[in-house]
Amino acid sequence: MTPSGIPSVDTPALLIDLDIVRRNLQQMQKNADNFGVALRPHIKTHKIPELAHLQMRLGAAGITVAKVSEAEVMAQGGLKDIFIANQVVSENKLNRLADLKKKVDISVGLDSPVAAEKLSAIFAASGLTMEYLIEINSGLNRCGVLPGRDAVELYRAIHALPALRFKGIFTHAGQVYGAGSLAEVMEISRHESKIMFETAEALEEAGTLVQIISIGSTPTMKVWQGYEGINEIRPGNYIFHDAIQLSLGVATLEECALSIVASVISRPARERAVIDGGSKAFSSDRGAHGKEMSSGFGIVLGKKATLVRLSEEHGIISLDPDEHLEIGDRVRIIPNHACAAVNLFDRAYGISNGEIVEEFNIAARGKSQ
Ligand SMILES: Cc1ncc(COP(=O)(O)O)c(C=O)c1O
Repeated sequence: MTPSGIPSVDTPALLIDLDIVRRNLQQMQKNADNFGVALRPHIKTHKIPELAHLQMRLGAAGITVAKVSEAEVMAQGGLKDIFIANQVVSENKLNRLADLKKKVDISVGLDSPVAAEKLSAIFAASGLTMEYLIEINSGLNRCGVLPGRDAVELYRAIHALPALRFKGIFTHAGQVYGAGSLAEVMEISRHESKIMFETAEALEEAGTLVQIISIGSTPTMKVWQGYEGINEIRPGNYIFHDAIQLSLGVATLEECALSIVASVISRPARERAVIDGGSKAFSSDRGAHGKEMSSGFGIVLGKKATLVRLSEEHGIISLDPDEHLEIGDRVRIIPNHACAAVNLFDRAYGISNGEIVEEFNIAARGKSQ
């Protein structure tokens, strides 16, 4: 440890406060248990099989991933129940999905007859059955069919295809990241549940059982009050939180588990310091899906300072001219977007009471295929 309480690792380095992680995981699990729903955390935030296992030990029902390659890493790491909350359409990926299906319990999202036909053809040829959830667009306007009638039409168009089994519906109301107030976060959270409940009802009226109704982002789940019919939640960022969650008002600084430690390499002016981490450490993320961060590229802990500008290997800090920050000093910074920052590091240091207690290989970083 250095005198400032920052572990003496070479910089820039990624730190995970494991005491905070455990509290964050326990809190979300408690919420899920109180509302009687399954928690299937998205591992896109931490990308570390050991942390996925911790989530499972604390009560998670399975995990969520975005990519086949993430699923492969997690399956290799011993995770057994994986939902790919995304569209998988290339032949190469569908064949890898079929291989995974032989080893672990896996399901996937669908939002079009085209993707369903491709999935059906490859699974039928392999003699396997694939479970799928229809993706619903609850306002993010990314993938997904519109709630209600369009979801029923898609179900009708694909349910008889060979080798596929309908399991349920899922959505991610990521537009919440553009919310301007906590009241708006709550409104989007209610809307996310409501349209999913109504869509499940429409599907059941059309004669099918909807086994899983799955929702979730961290902001919408942090304010969630439960909702009839919803039986699965999929937050991801809640394990660490970040400056974006703080700006939305759904997390506190004490709940932020991920930080980047960087060293001052230059103090060219009293109101400017330069650190050894830039966009290759923090990412250039100014706020997911909309809201621009006013606080720069992260929160500099314990200093009257703002990380105002990044080049690849340099971070430019604007600071109070009287602030003590000299060449060689180290700073800890909470990144804007934890998921994007984790993706930039090979390793992370787990700390407890300010001491390094564990080193993690970020096995699913860079897994975008
Ligand atoms: C489909 C899907 N589900 C769940 C999540 C988790 O949301 P968050 O990162 O807000 O916790 C994401 C995040 O991007 C997502 O894309």
